[in-house]
Amino acid sequence: MVFRRFGVNVRSKAKRHIVAGFAFLAATLAAHSQTPGGHQPLAEEVFKNVQVLKGTSVGELMDIMSFFSASLGLNCVHCHVNESLTHWEKFAEDVPRKRITRQMVLMVDAMNKTHFGGRRVLTCYSCHRGSIQPEPVPSLTVQYGLPTEDPNATEIVPNTPREPSAEQILDKFITAVGAAERLNGLKSFVAKGTYEGFDSYEQKVPFEVFAKAPNQRTTVAHTQNGDTTTTFDGHSGWIAAVDKPLRLMSLSPGGELDGARLDAALAFPGNIKQTLTQWRVGFPMTTIEDKQVQIVQGTAPGGTRVKLFFDVESGLLARVVRYTNTRIGIVPTQVDYSDYREVSGIRIPFHWTITWTGGQSFIELSELQPNVAIDDMKFAQPAPAVVKPAVK
Ligand code: HEC
Ligand code: HEC
Repeated sequence: MVFRRFGVNVRSKAKRHIVAGFAFLAATLAAHSQTPGGHQPLAEEVFKNVQVLKGTSVGELMDIMSFFSASLGLNCVHCHVNESLTHWEKFAEDVPRKRITRQMVLMVDAMNKTHFGGRRVLTCYSCHRGSIQPEPVPSLTVQYGLPTEDPNATEIVPNTPREPSAEQILDKFITAVGAAERLNGLKSFVAKGTYEGFDSYEQKVPFEVFAKAPNQRTTVAHTQNGDTTTTFDGHSGWIAAVDKPLRLMSLSPGGELDGARLDAALAFPGNIKQTLTQWRVGFPMTTIEDKQVQIVQGTAPGGTRVKLFFDVESGLLARVVRYTNTRIGIVPTQVDYSDYREVSGIRIPFHWTITWTGGQSFIELSELQPNVAIDDMKFAQPAPAVVKPAVK
């Protein structure tokens, strides 16, 4: 028996915290553990009762489920029977709130079509704002209280200066991490450290990174229930994990693949300018943890919008936010980088916090060895994840 947790942050009075703590029996849907032809199967090919979200990939359906949870401040089992936490196939059962959700999907589609020219401007979040009950009355406390500044919400406003240019900010970053010549000397690295997330029961478990320039990268989190392996080989990507609906999934083109490609490229920051296109600047200055940051935006090959936040003082990359398009709305994923340490004259972040609508995880590196030989097999399609026998 294998138990996994699934965490979705929901709002509790003042702060957000994880209310998950559910056990997941990850032993179902085994027939689909391979993804034939390297493509992710469609949701309706894997799941039994998909009615309104047909045509989405499995990964996109999971992103949509997190989008619902975040928009309404709910956990998975607020819309699914409790047994879903131990049996994937139980998610197929219908409960009243799940039926209402289908109607809401159709309602939002119809409103966007009828009133907004088919553009997806209205989403669950527009009305629900993290609560199951949309607020019909304006709040005076909110109106007269201090506004909370969300640096991610900073957008280009007309007539903001376009100086410094994206090129200048990126050049400053390259100089800050170690100058182009030194960066070109970094051809590969292997790093070790710890991973902490809902799938490790909020405990630190061993973590490894294998990276090869210009853009191959594999990470392995050795969780209590088995390894979670994420690989990008320079073109394709996969995730093998025991808590996913499939034990091995190809990353779907668009958001997932763009994310993996970006993570791999940022391991070798000298190539940052070639990693994204359509660079844009002109965002007003904002702050992350009281530090002033400059925002540069780029577009990934799969069309994903990416915002990069550079610390004005140090020039270093403090945060990356990427926006994955789904049929229901845009799902943000944020990676915060800190604890930059010097390895062979290059400054590398040893601490990353990954925050998304489905949970938060923390990676802390303890050692990093530059320019070691790595077997190419490390970047090949991984084997389906294997459940680790429970320790008595
Ligand atoms: C606001 C309600 C809501 C929340 C919260 C929610 N779901 Fe769903 N879920 C649905 C609806 C509605 C469907 C059916 C979609 C359709 O008919 O196309 C569905 C379908 C699914 C399916 C496909 C089941 C099958 O076999 O047909 C899975 C798996 C699933 N959800 C997992 C999750 C997980 C995991 C979470 C938590 C991250 C979650 N859901 C949160 C409403 C919700
Ligand atoms: C135009 C505003 C609007 C949008 C957009 C919207 N909703 Fe709602 N939703 C409402 C209102 C208002 C209610 C409460 C109705 C009531 O009180 O009877 C509600 C109720 C619900 C409920 C029932 C809550 C309960 O008490 O069980 C669910 C579930 C829900 N919405 C899901 C969604 C999802 C998922 C989306 C996106 C696909 C969505 N809604 C988009 C306005 C909206």
